[in-house]
Amino acid sequence: MGKSLTQISVKVQKGDCWVLAGDLLAVGVFSDSPANSLVKMLNKKLNSGIEKVKKLGDFEAKPGSSCLLYSDGKIKASRVLLVGLGKRKDLNSETLRKGASLATSKAVELKARSVLLSLHTDISASVKLDAMQVGQILAEGACFGAYRYDEFITDKNSKSPARIKAVITDRHANTVSQLRKGVSVGMITGLAQNDARTVANRPGSVINPVTLAAEAKKLARSIPSLRCTVLDDKQLKTKKMGGILAVGQGSATPPRLIVLQYTPAGATKNTPTIGLVGKAVTFDSGGISLKPGAGMYDMKFDKSGGIAVLGAMNAVSQLKPKCTVYGLIPAAENMPGTGSYRPGDIVTTFSGKTVEIQNTDAEGRMILCDAITYAEKLGCHSIVDIATLTGACVVAIGQKRAGLMSNDIKLIDRLKEASNNTGERLWHLPCDDEFVEEMKSKIADLKNVGGKWGGACTAAAFLSQFTEKARWAHIDMAGVGVWGANPGDAPGSIGFGVRLLTAFVMNHSKK
Ligand code: BES
Ligand code: ZN
Ligand code: MG
Repeated sequence: MGKSLTQISVKVQKGDCWVLAGDLLAVGVFSDSPANSLVKMLNKKLNSGIEKVKKLGDFEAKPGSSCLLYSDGKIKASRVLLVGLGKRKDLNSETLRKGASLATSKAVELKARSVLLSLHTDISASVKLDAMQVGQILAEGACFGAYRYDEFITDKNSKSPARIKAVITDRHANTVSQLRKGVSVGMITGLAQNDARTVANRPGSVINPVTLAAEAKKLARSIPSLRCTVLDDKQLKTKKMGGILAVGQGSATPPRLIVLQYTPAGATKNTPTIGLVGKAVTFDSGGISLKPGAGMYDMKFDKSGGIAVLGAMNAVSQLKPKCTVYGLIPAAENMPGTGSYRPGDIVTTFSGKTVEIQNTDAEGRMILCDAITYAEKLGCHSIVDIATLTGACVVAIGQKRAGLMSNDIKLIDRLKEASNNTGERLWHLPCDDEFVEEMKSKIADLKNVGGKWGGACTAAAFLSQFTEKARWAHIDMAGVGVWGANPGDAPGSIGFGVRLLTAFVMNHSKK
């Protein structure tokens, strides 16, 4: 397994895009008239090539669409990619991010090594963002689009280029420095997200609780403000983390609780402390309540919540907010075997609360509850957990949004704000008392499954029982974690949650 994934860099250069050399020049085109002056200019240089494809109906400039032209020596770059941006008035950060992503993705397809992303006045004027935000979004998009998971592909011809250089071009000297600032932020989140996708995409034979912990340690070694300690199975036993232990006991690889900690310079007792908790079931077979065979391979993605936390801790510790952040990743492999936990078992969790196991496939909540209790014990005043928790959430809201449940209005607002900033979409769902009632057991404090209906809500209601004073919110990313890739995206993980959680923490630190 080599370090074979494409390396992407993004730079900003002042100047006219047509005088710069490159394998691919990407230009944003609006679907409504009049054409932008840069587009007009390029059209002229390309012998009306842009007008022609528009007239033929080959390119309507809808968002997500693109059209490739060959410049035949008429400008410096050898190819031009028209990128549809839709109507001017509708331009937003998502269209821009997707546009940049489309450009680098096409570059990978064409085995082009350098891409010019040309900014023009109409983009800057139509989008309600400052130059720094535009820089961040373009860098994030460029990173996202250049990603392919190909570390197990041995055929050299099917591999993507080793390196892709993206250059954002702008004629306006006054915005260049702001764009550069934004790009440096966008590269941190964009690369953290791509690294997260790689770990998520790796199969269960490679990423298990022990190797995931090693991955987290490696990350912490590379960033001075990030620390990592790992509780192994012995320490989990001493601490009585019965939930994590129960889920992990059927696997040949023992469970772990990965504890990442970012501390800002000059932190005191009063520094606000946030906890991010991510479910990392490195493979979910269902355990004794075995899942059906069809599609079970997708359950290598059941670690996606934990990976989102890993990625966010990577970005946050480089962006250095003014709050302390814990990233807690309970990691276990849910397997059937002679040592497995069983339906009917009663598990004593770290909180002291007992849980009647009715289905070993409802394992996510069993590892999360211990980590949530631990987060509160570490002093976190706000705790956000994220998990590929329920199929029911996918039934309810589909594969493009994550469910958001919380008992705290302020936390809901903050997460929605982060969602709006990052384009990682959330949908608010309930988890109040009626759902908690459903999770009560006749022979223990709680049971790990509810009734037939509202499975995402009962799962969240279960988790809500494990904080006392802290604000708590839960993100069910089952759909996006496993099937989040849109047509045109690289197959596999989209690294959902990295941008969202990073923005949540960074916004929090500004308030
Ligand atoms: N990992 C699954 C949830 C899941 C399903 C994520 C499909 C992504 C796609 C989780 O551990 C699980 O199996 N949940 C059960 C809970 C049930 C037994 C109460 C489910 O959703 O069926
Ligand atoms: Zn699971
Ligand atoms: Mg399960």
